[in-house]
Amino acid sequence: MTDGNSETKSSNQMWGGRFASGPDAIMEEINASIGFDKKLYAQDIRGSIAHATMLAHQGIISAEDKDKIVHGLNTILSEIESGQFEFSRRLEDIHMNIEARLATLIGPSAGRLHTARSRNDQVALDFRLWVKEELQKTEKALTALIAAFLDRAEEHADTVMPGFTHLQTAQPVTFGHHCMAYVEMFGRDRSRVRHAIEHMDESPIGAAALAGTGFPIDRHMTAKALGFAGPTRNSIDTVSDRDFALEFLSMASIAATHLSRLAEEIVIWSTPQFGFIRLSDAFSTGSSIMPQKKNPDAAELVRAKTGRINGSLIALLTVMKGLPLAYSKDMQEDKEQVFDAAESLELAIAAMTGMVRDMTVRTDRMKAAAGSGYSTATDLADWLVREAGLPFRDAHHVTGRAVALAEQKACDLADLSLADLRSIHPDITEKVFDVLTVEASVASRTSFGGTAPNEVRKQIAWWRARN
Ligand code: ARG
Repeated sequence: MTDGNSETKSSNQMWGGRFASGPDAIMEEINASIGFDKKLYAQDIRGSIAHATMLAHQGIISAEDKDKIVHGLNTILSEIESGQFEFSRRLEDIHMNIEARLATLIGPSAGRLHTARSRNDQVALDFRLWVKEELQKTEKALTALIAAFLDRAEEHADTVMPGFTHLQTAQPVTFGHHCMAYVEMFGRDRSRVRHAIEHMDESPIGAAALAGTGFPIDRHMTAKALGFAGPTRNSIDTVSDRDFALEFLSMASIAATHLSRLAEEIVIWSTPQFGFIRLSDAFSTGSSIMPQKKNPDAAELVRAKTGRINGSLIALLTVMKGLPLAYSKDMQEDKEQVFDAAESLELAIAAMTGMVRDMTVRTDRMKAAAGSGYSTATDLADWLVREAGLPFRDAHHVTGRAVALAEQKACDLADLSLADLRSIHPDITEKVFDVLTVEASVASRTSFGGTAPNEVRKQIAWWRARN
């Protein structure tokens, strides 16, 4: 015997009827999902209780069998939760681990539970329930992050900082306005979460293997018991699609991308060169060799988690793209991607919420930087349009010459003398100095959605009413 195992190995007790021998060790290893899908135990038990209850209600199994099944499943739930349950790889997955244990606990009645269902609709149900709960958690986590930003935005509605394009100083903005940009992003992420919940809010159970069943089941009853809006409408689609998982992952990738951009800004802002913020000790680390260092590790890790999450999305898209309808075992590879991305996203949102809440905003540094780099040049050009009647293109040109002169004199625009400015354009008056300060600049941006402190306060109020 080359395969020493084959003598001792019996065929699978759940589906082994037509098999003479058990699987090769490698087959068992590649086939088993219990290592990760045990995470679905609570959903599996909840789904089975709803299914058994419906079977009894419809007269498909007896009330006695149903009671035994429900009691047994509840026993298994406490066994798993107290760490007493022994998971077996030979039983492949969470569904068969639980069903086999049920048989040991209650005897032949256990065999009636799988009437009018298949592992195909069972796994679709368990995973949907899990993803739905995860989306609900994500919604709460994003709400907390948005709340943290709203507080910081309110506190800093008047704090000026440089606004950037190309990471070059562009125009002064307020830190409150910058914070509110993230509120908009995370607010859209949260609506993606809500849409995903709506899309997936249909119960798969009862689709059976792929074609439905001849037993007189009531799928509306199980859907209701499990908190779904209703049952899915096509049994083939039900067992073969995983777009609810893909929607979770695409939402997660977009949210992680937003988190990563924020993380990048935190990394830049906390450098001594920028010095716009100081991270709390709670969200930074020291260096083992350089005593002066305070590193933004949490932000860096948030930035890096995005790679994992994006990877999970691409992995599952790739798994699904070539699959003919209906179920194929390829789909077993959906879970680890989603579990890993969910854990990463939860952690990233929580870490970011902590960093945003705790960081010290260095308003003096922001203000000093806001005024450098000729950030009010656009205000000078706009003044020339408004007060001296120049076409904007000419005003742009005149302002460019003023910037060149300031550069030559190594001073700010506001430090040029009136005579200097008049040498560039004779219509410039004393009043121009009113618009050259950063405070005047931000206060003047009163267009809807602009950076003027009062506009920002209006947006904060709008969000507060919705958060
Ligand atoms: N462990 C499987 C999965 O995660 C359960 C469904 C198995 N169905 C089947 N026909 N082999 O996809």
